[in-house]
Amino acid sequence: MSSSEGKTITVIGSGLIGRSWAMVFISGGYRVKIYDNQPGQAARAIHEVRKQLEDLQEECMLRGDRNASEQIALLSSHDDLCQALEGAFFIQECVFEEIEAKRSVFQAVESHVGEGVILSSSTSCLLPSNIFSQVQNRKRCIISHPVNPPYYVRLVELVPHPETLAEVMDTTHALMTAVGQAPVRLKKEIDGFALNRVQYAIIAESWRLVKDGVISVKDIDLVMSEGLGMRYAFIGPMETMHLNAPEGLEDYVQRYREGMKRVLNAFGPVPEFSGEAAERINKVSLCVCVLYCFYQRLYILGLGQMSSDFANQVHKRYEKLGYFNEGNGTLSPASSRASILQFFPSSTITRRYPSTCCQAVQTSFSTLQWKPSCEKTLAISVKYFTSIKYFILD
Ligand SMILES: NC(=O)c1ccc[n+]([C@@H]2O[C@H](COP(=O)([O-])OP(=O)(O)OC[C@H]3O[C@@H](n4cnc5c(N)ncnc54)[C@H](O)[C@@H]3O)[C@@H](O)[C@H]2O)c1
Repeated sequence: MSSSEGKTITVIGSGLIGRSWAMVFISGGYRVKIYDNQPGQAARAIHEVRKQLEDLQEECMLRGDRNASEQIALLSSHDDLCQALEGAFFIQECVFEEIEAKRSVFQAVESHVGEGVILSSSTSCLLPSNIFSQVQNRKRCIISHPVNPPYYVRLVELVPHPETLAEVMDTTHALMTAVGQAPVRLKKEIDGFALNRVQYAIIAESWRLVKDGVISVKDIDLVMSEGLGMRYAFIGPMETMHLNAPEGLEDYVQRYREGMKRVLNAFGPVPEFSGEAAERINKVSLCVCVLYCFYQRLYILGLGQMSSDFANQVHKRYEKLGYFNEGNGTLSPASSRASILQFFPSSTITRRYPSTCCQAVQTSFSTLQWKPSCEKTLAISVKYFTSIKYFILD
């Protein structure tokens, strides 16, 4: 019997995030009861989820072992909170980002469920000590912050209340892992959690550079989309440092420590994000975005958003190298090696780990049903880079 068999999760709030969480949990075999305080809204959500699952099935992108109808059969909608909570071991709250709305939901939930039930919030930026302040038993409270949309983007930040039990963190981590998400544990609460603190650091410096006339709006976005972003879609900052110097992380900090400190000390104050600079950036950004939408559609495929230009580029190169002719979904070691060198002629990863990289590429190709299309090429590339990473970490 699988760990999800017969277990029930209640999702409270059936908007964008509630629907996506429901899809994630049913893909892992859990029964999901979805509740919304707007009558009829939860039922409409199920209708929407059904449509999405059928489309995903058609595209061979459905998550989990069950087919779309089997997954839908695990889902029920409720306009009555008490009924929705019955039998659940885990509650995922997804209502509006308003502190009072969340507090009153958790107060109501607590009066209907047993001591052992985990109360989890999807909040983007409210702290556990605020949200759960009116819950009596805060030891079972946790934040499971997804990245939108959780069905496609796997990261979940788990943030404990100061009183949260270690076993609540462990159970939530195990649940998220079991349904295919990528949970990370924060050891204590902090404003912005981890993802937004990193994101805001990038936004702040990008803003300062534009505001101070160092670079244009369009070009700072290119710094990310054509530079840092390509790398960070596959490896994190620590891995980047480790792979960016011949002898690894220690070597990297030896070489660049002083430079990094000098630059960081020169950073300006937190921007106001308003006034004349905001108007100027907004105007330019709008123009850039409109143009961008015209010729660069964004896909959400497994790993979040990536530009179709990148997929096209990869696709064309594979085509040129004759990889599509191999047809049966496998790549020879020679082709794998050629593909790696083609993409990463000077990469430290491929220079340091040539045989594991080849192996990773071969495995990626053979585990995906190979059909030459732009979308599939992107999916393969995602899988291929991710595998390289896992091979190296193993
Ligand atoms: N949208 C995102 O990008 C994103 C990403 C990560 C986390 N989150 C967080 O997820 C939560 C939900 O966001 P969303 O984008 O799905 O919002 P949404 O506006 O799409 O949906 C909210 C839903 O909650 C329902 N609701 C409101 N009050 C309720 C109550 N008291 N009881 C039951 N249902 C109630 C509403 O009817 C609505 O269907 C928020 O806390 C948000 O910060 C959102």
